[in-house]
Amino acid sequence: MSPRHFLRDDDLSPAEQAEVLDLAAAMKKDRFGYRPFEGPQTVAVLFDKPSARTRVSFHTGIGELGGLPLVVDNVSVLMGRGEPASDLARVLDRQVAAIVWRTTGQALIEEMAAHSAVPVVNALTDDFHPCQILADLQTVRERLGRTAGVTLTYVGDGANNMAHSYLLGGATAGMHVRIAAPAGYQPDAVLLDQAAAIAARTGGSVLALSDPVAAVQGAHVIATDTWVSMGQDGKEERVNVLMPYQVNAELVEHAAPDAVVLHCLPAYRGYEITDEVLEGPRSVVWDQAENRLHAQKALLHWLVSHR
Ligand code: CP
Ligand code: NVA
Repeated sequence: MSPRHFLRDDDLSPAEQAEVLDLAAAMKKDRFGYRPFEGPQTVAVLFDKPSARTRVSFHTGIGELGGLPLVVDNVSVLMGRGEPASDLARVLDRQVAAIVWRTTGQALIEEMAAHSAVPVVNALTDDFHPCQILADLQTVRERLGRTAGVTLTYVGDGANNMAHSYLLGGATAGMHVRIAAPAGYQPDAVLLDQAAAIAARTGGSVLALSDPVAAVQGAHVIATDTWVSMGQDGKEERVNVLMPYQVNAELVEHAAPDAVVLHCLPAYRGYEITDEVLEGPRSVVWDQAENRLHAQKALLHWLVSHR
């Protein structure tokens, strides 16, 4: 049987996503009670880009699941001789229980998955960051008690991996996802359509708009991310265009009174978010960062038991 992979947020159906989030909550309560990798089995965690949270949470989580993390920070050590991902997949899958990869193009991780007999997990690509969204959904559940019917407004670079993952993952969770971004930074139209199709089945909705104040109106969750993602250039121009989309105290005033603020981190204070909001009472970013651990443990556990 072919393994289940998690390459983009909609690789889990709404029911499966809920199962993983339920498991994440249970695993958070009983942190050392689940040992699917006891043996121990090795899980490869590969990085083509820098990372703090993803690296630490996968390393820690795999150990807590009874496994051995094989963390490779510079994938050129593995692939620097021009070997294709399809070959590496067939070397790794005979030895490890799962492959976690942070890389550039989505096509690369799709190639790895297509040739791997073990689950492949997207630890961030240029296109998606689905593990982050699981942690974010867990955080929203903890704070608001649900995801269905919750309005989440993402403000900033609407064309990046986080925006695209909020669209797919949020729609899967039955949320009303609004993206506020200027022209040239709007989400990919194909993904917007795909997210709308998911939302039509879950009772959610998706909307891309340009006015940040209108987008935040009544929102239960405000999310943002860096304006310059890893590998992108043109910082000065990006900052100039995106400055009106800063998440600051004035913008947050338009949200629901008990709204929470998410940021996947690292945060650039004074750019996409002010220090006042990031460190303020609505911010749940430290829970969000911790939940990477629990959500990813649950995901790995779920994937290896659904082959
Ligand atoms: N949020 C997140 O993925 O952080 P890192 O890039 O530090 O892993
Ligand atoms: N959009 C950001 C997310 C970092 C976790 C990036 O890709 O750099």
